[in-house]
Amino acid sequence: MPAEAIVNIGILATMGEGEGVMGLRRDAAVVIDADRVAWVGPAADAPAADLRTDAGGAAMIPGFVDSHTHAVFGGDRAAEFDARMSGAPYTAGGIRSTVAATRAASAEELAARTRHLLDEALRQGTTTVEIKSGYGLDVATERRLLEVAARFTDEVTFLGAHVVAPEMADRRGDYVDLVAGPMLEAAAPLARWIDAFCEEGAFYVDETRRVLTAGRDAGLGLRLHANQLTRSGAAALGVELGAASIDHCTFLSDEDVDALAGSDTVATFVPGAEFSTRQPYPRVDRLRDAGVTWALASDCNPGSSFTTSLPFCIALAVRDMGATPGEAIRAATAGGAAALRRTDVGRIEVGARADLALLDAPDPVHLAYRPGVPLVSRVWRGGVETRTWSRA
Ligand code: NIG
Ligand code: FE
Repeated sequence: MPAEAIVNIGILATMGEGEGVMGLRRDAAVVIDADRVAWVGPAADAPAADLRTDAGGAAMIPGFVDSHTHAVFGGDRAAEFDARMSGAPYTAGGIRSTVAATRAASAEELAARTRHLLDEALRQGTTTVEIKSGYGLDVATERRLLEVAARFTDEVTFLGAHVVAPEMADRRGDYVDLVAGPMLEAAAPLARWIDAFCEEGAFYVDETRRVLTAGRDAGLGLRLHANQLTRSGAAALGVELGAASIDHCTFLSDEDVDALAGSDTVATFVPGAEFSTRQPYPRVDRLRDAGVTWALASDCNPGSSFTTSLPFCIALAVRDMGATPGEAIRAATAGGAAALRRTDVGRIEVGARADLALLDAPDPVHLAYRPGVPLVSRVWRGGVETRTWSRA
């Protein structure tokens, strides 16, 4: 007999079969067997199970898939945020203060911080998370960050090309050699992805190409911080190299959107960064018209976006990026899964991982309609109801 039947779900957003962009089914039930969804259908037809859970008519969505975080770091940059809110600009330079604090922290201290952030994320509905390195910038510390990240997820990303290491500031060519050589060699066994920050103050397009190509040759998939602060040419490079996702996309040109439309690359928006850096929000209208798949992620990091909350990002996307609530919720679930090239998460269908978020609301639209309110009441991850993050 399957483990658990969750019945009396008022609106179930499957992101697959069903009504509209969220694949809605009404008066539904979900049956979990081990770590998988075993059955989805009308509550009245739900098969017997060991445990029967009554959702009380509330809405249920897939657990969020947060495809972009920098959740392993030391220190805090509240003073930098405070200065920014008094008019100081955001620059890539702030990364260096987190590098100093991160280098000074032990693996256990870093892991404790990461666990705290992931518990926080889980209680807001996140069940899959990608984690980047990038605050080490030397071989030993980058390795330490990747090892910590791998304690929590398989979606581990090597971001040695975050900024040039401070001690090599006047030798950037040597730093790119280090990242694409020995650092990558140490990182590749621990990572699934490679990423780079292609931007003014970080890395130029030709340097980024070199790093990503080396990563691809080492067997890693590609992701890219693209067009965050300027139209840097990074978005075009990411699409050209076949990146799974180009992230930020604050400044996309029509040519970038056309290139995305003809590709398998997902555009990932991180509106928490626009919020925390007082940048303009990108719009999704052109992507919708062009049929581009887009995702929403938290970009959780101590500098530009210190949030773990996908509901917050959904509310921003709806209010300020022109997304409908359904589009934004899809982007934070199925969109995030597409950005990680995963088909087992981000949807509630037979065979998918049983990652479920029950809402204290009758309709998923409440995630945008009631901003700032903790609406996620219960979370199942890999078929197990939980309040804390564990390796899955
Ligand atoms: O995604 N853009 C580069 N990296 C982070 C910010 C890092 C930081 O400011 O510490 C981001 O916004
Ligand atoms: Fe980022």
